[in-house]
Amino acid sequence: MKPKVIHNILLCSFCLALYCLCNADKFLSSRYEWKKLIMVHHWPPTVCKEAENDCSNPPGYWTIHGLWADKAEDCNRSWHFNLEEIKDLLPEMKMYWPDIIHRPPNCSQFWKHEWRKHGTCVAQLDALNSEKKYFGKILDLYKQLNLDSMLQKLGIKPSIDYYQVADIRDALASVYGVMPKVQCLPPEKNEDVQSIAQIELCFTKDLQLRNCTQPGLSASLRQKARGADVADSSMGLEVCEDGPVFYPPPRETMR
Ligand SMILES: *[C@@H]1O[C@H](CO)[C@@H](O)[C@H](O)[C@H]1NC(C)=O
Ligand SMILES: *[C@@H]1O[C@H](CO)[C@@H](O)[C@H](O)[C@H]1NC(C)=O
Ligand SMILES: *[C@@H]1O[C@H](CO)[C@@H](O)[C@H](O)[C@H]1NC(C)=O
Repeated sequence: MKPKVIHNILLCSFCLALYCLCNADKFLSSRYEWKKLIMVHHWPPTVCKEAENDCSNPPGYWTIHGLWADKAEDCNRSWHFNLEEIKDLLPEMKMYWPDIIHRPPNCSQFWKHEWRKHGTCVAQLDALNSEKKYFGKILDLYKQLNLDSMLQKLGIKPSIDYYQVADIRDALASVYGVMPKVQCLPPEKNEDVQSIAQIELCFTKDLQLRNCTQPGLSASLRQKARGADVADSSMGLEVCEDGPVFYPPPRETMR
């Protein structure tokens, strides 16, 4: 081959490689881009209702599921979870963030999963850029939002009588000043109605409350608009349909 041809081939390969690199970079950065934080609470008696998940004694208060970024997960696989780093937080974590999803429960496994999948993404923010800050901030937000007693104050208590989804959503919107997202477990066999499972409250990157949902989007579109968490999809949670909803009492009080 003539030197000129070789030169051209080399030049083309170089340009192609450069092009690929640039686009890979674009792909990677957009993959880890996100706009809002989602603080996820779940209701243990509903989450535990799943037969294979049957918890023996679920807490009778709303617990933490996690703090997620919309549209991004698994942002840094080399940032390993280290339980030692959050030793000081463990008493509160065990209380407010128990593992009610897995059988047998394993808190450190659950927290590790949340850190890896969500923590490594939201840790892009200075306020959350370490394990200690991430888990500590979530506990702060949990206490600040005080969802459990807020619901009680609103007169929304676990009950064998059904609520209307819109009433719960509107009541929460009135106290927090933003639209929450309410998720349900669809009716199972022998059940008439969906059960409330999760309540999400959303924050801006400055940690200010903001709407979770855009007004006017249908429930199914809203569901699609956000990549559902693996735990959600494996539990079959969906945005609640408008209409009646069951807020199941903890088992002790049902006996
Ligand atoms: C991923 O995490 C490791 C360990 O904390 C850190 O050294 C590295 O800079 C992080 N990478 C990115 C892209 O943030
Ligand atoms: C819980 O998960 C941790 C972290 O993955 C693991 O090291 C530990 O053995 C698990 N404990 C039990 C009781 O399975
Ligand atoms: C938040 O939602 C409420 C109710 O749907 C709406 O009136 C308000 O304009 C929304 N705020 C923003 C900033 O989108």
